[in-house]
Amino acid sequence: MNNIKTDNNFDVTKQIRFVSHEIRNHISVCDMYAQILKKHIDNDGYKNPSVENALECIQKSLQIISMNVADLKSININNQSVLDFKTCIEKAVELSKAYVEDKDIEFEIFIKNTSMIKIDENRLTSCIVNIIKNAIEAIEIKGKICVFGEIKDNYGVLKISNNGKQIPNDKQDKIFDYGYTSKQSGSGYGLHICKKYLNSQNADIELVKSNKAETLFKIMIPLA
Ligand SMILES: Nc1ncnc2c1ncn2[C@@H]1O[C@H](COP(=O)(O)OP(=O)(O)O)[C@@H](O)[C@H]1O
Ligand SMILES: [Mg+2]
Repeated sequence: MNNIKTDNNFDVTKQIRFVSHEIRNHISVCDMYAQILKKHIDNDGYKNPSVENALECIQKSLQIISMNVADLKSININNQSVLDFKTCIEKAVELSKAYVEDKDIEFEIFIKNTSMIKIDENRLTSCIVNIIKNAIEAIEIKGKICVFGEIKDNYGVLKISNNGKQIPNDKQDKIFDYGYTSKQSGSGYGLHICKKYLNSQNADIELVKSNKAETLFKIMIPLA
């Protein structure tokens, strides 16, 4: 990584290294405690699917944060593996539900058929979470998010739609641009990063349509 110096000689690279180091340390702490909790639950025979699911989601999120921290150090290699399409999508959708908070959102998930896909699981999960988070944010109070998956023409095809507010026609070709956001506290990085990660793995994402009734995204993932 080239060192970037600002006018007042503040070493940004050093600061990034320092912050990544601190984040990494705390990720390990959280992961360790999640494992301890899991062990206690198993040993005590405490059966609660929602607690088990919450712990799994915490660990998955920690893996994604670790991957992002690794990206800061420019060691962002895709860690491709062969995964089951259906399982992978169901896990990612579950993780996204954390963003629903107090909205009244119905999820309809239908995975028609499955096969093995070849992709970095954490990167795919983080893309699906980004898309569903956007879908949740587009719904003001009450709405519906549909996730449809199928294997078609050598691809795992994933369609994610919501019935929230429309993306204005003149903005539809800007949503994948770096930094484009319509939200007050948005970053505008989510979709840009999704596209970049997917394209680097022979996968793709596109906006199929956005109108008053529905906004629909399609993701294509190559089969193994
Ligand atoms: N499902 C969606 N419904 C409506 N608008 C969306 C949807 N997904 C993305 N957008 C639009 O695309 C923009 C960019 O999304 P994103 O890159 O995730 O950045 P951010 O969420 O930080 O704004 C959003 O600000 C929003 O205007
Ligand atoms: Mg977003």
